[in-house]
Amino acid sequence: MPLQLVENASLKPYNSFGVDARAAFLARVASDEQLAELESLPAVAGLPRLILGGGSNLLFTGDVEGVVVKIEIPGLAELEPSDTHWRIEVGAGENWHATVERLLALDRPGLENLALIPGQAGAAPIQNIGAYGIELAERFESLRAWDVSQRRVVQMSLADCNFGYRDSVFKHALAGARVITGVTLALPRQWQPVTSYVDVASELKARALTRPTARDIFDAVVAIRCRKLPDPVLIGNAGSFFKNPVVAREKLNELLQHFPSLVSYPMPGGRFKLAAGWLIDAAGLKGATRGRAGVYEKQALVLVNRGGATGREILALAREVQEKVAAKFGVLLEPEPVIV
Ligand code: EPU
Repeated sequence: MPLQLVENASLKPYNSFGVDARAAFLARVASDEQLAELESLPAVAGLPRLILGGGSNLLFTGDVEGVVVKIEIPGLAELEPSDTHWRIEVGAGENWHATVERLLALDRPGLENLALIPGQAGAAPIQNIGAYGIELAERFESLRAWDVSQRRVVQMSLADCNFGYRDSVFKHALAGARVITGVTLALPRQWQPVTSYVDVASELKARALTRPTARDIFDAVVAIRCRKLPDPVLIGNAGSFFKNPVVAREKLNELLQHFPSLVSYPMPGGRFKLAAGWLIDAAGLKGATRGRAGVYEKQALVLVNRGGATGREILALAREVQEKVAAKFGVLLEPEPVIV
């Protein structure tokens, strides 16, 4: 397919919040070479770029003046395995969940806890996607990226990506500097179930599965997510709207004195992650509606488009959530999606 460039394009089909913003240009890119080709087009020379994967982790608060580059690079290929890992190269444009499912069918398990995470494979490293006891960093070997200023493809290792909790070098030093075009996964050949997360353990118990297969875990995770998280096809959303805040032990103890049922998890380094969903819920905002934006009824960490909301309406609600949580608990919630 040749490079597709559309002027004054609607972004509504390209963001899971379903916000009706427009882009001055929309470029749909199906290969690394087309990224290079785009750079040589006079029509878009000098315009700012916004790279888009599945559009499931961003909020458009207005129109985009420059070029939205939608990555549609396909591919799934098994590389020579190492002694310990299966190695799978995935095109950045592949849907994440479909990739998890295809690999399971090919007897290459290891991503089952990350089932049903919206978005594309190429976006997974940016926020180091994680769920139910696993994060991408634990299943990652390297990636391929287009370097915007050098105008060439580069390889990046695990160490280069500097992964953290919902964090990577692509949100900091390399923000806007590299476009991920492919990801190489490393799946342990000695598969071990990860059932440490309470929700997963209890779902497996309810299903009487004492020695679960990867498929059993996949099914359990899909069931849990379907119960708690809205399907973006039906209700616009971007998953968790805030990160779970991390606080010092003193702050946790102070909060526990006033709020004994507060949910927290110990982190390496003696700090504690607080369940932001619990904080928002306890601030009385679960199920709240402001105009056409809302806080999801079944999981307060998720903001939703109740139909026709603008990005600004959703952002205004996000600010209110931040203010109310800060006033009640003295904790700042940081948005997790990219706000454009
Ligand atoms: N809780 C409430 N009220 C709520 C929501 C949650 O009391 O309205 C409590 C729950 O009862 C639970 C705790 O808060 O004890 C944590 O909730 P949950 O297990 O649903 O997980 P989370 O911390 O809210 C995180 C990730 C999710 C991921 C799940 C499972 C972040 C920001 N979110 O949510 O990721 O699926 O854990 O691992 O880390 C995403 O990033 O978009 C996302 C959905």
